[in-house]
Amino acid sequence: MLPSFLPLLASPETGGPLTLTVRRREGEEIIEGSLCDDAGQSYPIEQGIPRLLPREMREAQISEIAARDAQVEDYDRMAFLNWFGKVEIPLTRQALGALPADILLEAGCGTGRMSQILAGSVREMVAVDFSFESLRVAQKKLRAAGITNVHLAQADLCSLPFACGAFDRVVSCQVLEHVPGPEARAAAVASLARVVKPSGTLALSAYKHSLLTKTFGKKEGLHEGGIPFFRFTKTELSETLSIDFKVHSITGALVYLYLARCTREQLPA
Ligand SMILES: C[S@@+](CC[C@H](N)C(=O)[O-])C[C@H]1O[C@@H](n2cnc3c(N)ncnc32)[C@H](O)[C@@H]1O
Repeated sequence: MLPSFLPLLASPETGGPLTLTVRRREGEEIIEGSLCDDAGQSYPIEQGIPRLLPREMREAQISEIAARDAQVEDYDRMAFLNWFGKVEIPLTRQALGALPADILLEAGCGTGRMSQILAGSVREMVAVDFSFESLRVAQKKLRAAGITNVHLAQADLCSLPFACGAFDRVVSCQVLEHVPGPEARAAAVASLARVVKPSGTLALSAYKHSLLTKTFGKKEGLHEGGIPFFRFTKTELSETLSIDFKVHSITGALVYLYLARCTREQLPA
């Protein structure tokens, strides 16, 4: 973690500021240390990554973290995602419309499949996931590619540890469908809206309940390892996002995903 990350961070519990204690540095980077919030709760920094999960999480999310940590190597071996990304990533970038001066949040970055590409279009980027092992893989990839404008943090989408309006844009790909239940999904969308600036953009993709899945698949259930999933109808995705965002478009062009482009409305005066 670089010291320049601190001004963007806030407590996942109180939303208040965090105080940094450094135990080990390598050059500029803080490798071991802690962040303490205004209520006295301490969050560790381990292997250069701040671990900012809230104290209480839903049971289904705790088991998803264990499954994602265990499956981290399998994720990158999914050849299908590599070729699908050649269409998915350009379409996602188009929906996001990032500018060189932007600060971007990637919410649910996994092993960093998109992070390197996204980092090239902005000034600074923060990539979060609740799977620490996924973040460690993303960290290795970013270091190997010499990318220095990406901050990583372990965080839950439902309680993002950032200051209000910290980001110009937010991108979240194939994550919301894994957030279990309508209440948690609404909390995740509200949390994304809180951290993006008024008029800022959200590009979000999520599983589509298509004719194929209506005929042969399930609307919701569990993937291997107990990872929860939910397939949205277009109306469901629009309604979920519309509570906190203005939805400009939802395209079904990405085969099994919907891709939505939204903006955060100006806050009332
Ligand atoms: C299907 S993967 C997608 C990863 C990446 N966005 C990509 O497109 O390759 C879903 C990711 O979302 C993460 N995730 C799911 N729910 C989350 C939550 N509530 N908070 C943070 N990360 C979450 C998982 O750990 C996993 O890495």
